[in-house]
Amino acid sequence: MRLNKYIAQAGICSRRAADELTKEGKVKINGAVMKEPGYDVKPGDVVTVGTRTITTSEKLCYYALNKPVGYVCTAKDEKGRKTVVSLLADVEARVYPVGRLDYDTSGLLILTNDGELTNLIASPDSTIRKTYQARIAGRLSLDELWTLRNGIIIDLPVNTKDGRRTVRKYKTRPAEVRIISEKGDESLVEISISEGKNRQVRRMFEAAGHKVISLERIAIGDIKLGRTKPGTYRRLTDAELKGLMALKPQE
Ligand code: URA
Repeated sequence: MRLNKYIAQAGICSRRAADELTKEGKVKINGAVMKEPGYDVKPGDVVTVGTRTITTSEKLCYYALNKPVGYVCTAKDEKGRKTVVSLLADVEARVYPVGRLDYDTSGLLILTNDGELTNLIASPDSTIRKTYQARIAGRLSLDELWTLRNGIIIDLPVNTKDGRRTVRKYKTRPAEVRIISEKGDESLVEISISEGKNRQVRRMFEAAGHKVISLERIAIGDIKLGRTKPGTYRRLTDAELKGLMALKPQE
């Protein structure tokens, strides 16, 4: 939602007055001054006007979607590709994906308008376990399995302070990895990681010398994809929600 609309809906002032306050530098997003009235407020953003922090009274909703391959997880795509949000067209609340799956990854995606939860799960350092099934080329040797489990060095693209793009070496945290089946020159492997660096699972297998043929996320913490068909979604159950809420810091 546009920043001026967000401020106006919270009953602080009119949209026009909100534009003025924003241009005067009196509005902050997550602690940093924001002078763009057209800024798109995202779940998790903490908006402050002067000394007042805005909260909205929107009902919080939580969905589990089975993302098909060929959809992006951003709200809009400059290449005009389909977005996961379009699969929830009949959901009234404006929900956003919690973290991302690659365009070519399928499986479980949580969507919500609960910004606090989004931050807890989606941060690259979040320790929530995410479980994937990967179909990979070749068979894993015992050495490769050991390295994947104990930490493998991957190349991670990062931005330098002066805005350049570079690559740094990163050793992954311990992961659970098991071979489900091996057929011909392909293997089906289940891997659970407790972090979420960019394209981490693909990078891990590639660092071990195995191309990922397909990748599906089957669980986030205790929430499982279950029988939700590709392209469809369901509300999270009360038990699933209870588990997620336990992640929030207690007041
Ligand atoms: N790891 C990946 O490589 N891709 C995803 O989409 C999710 C995890």
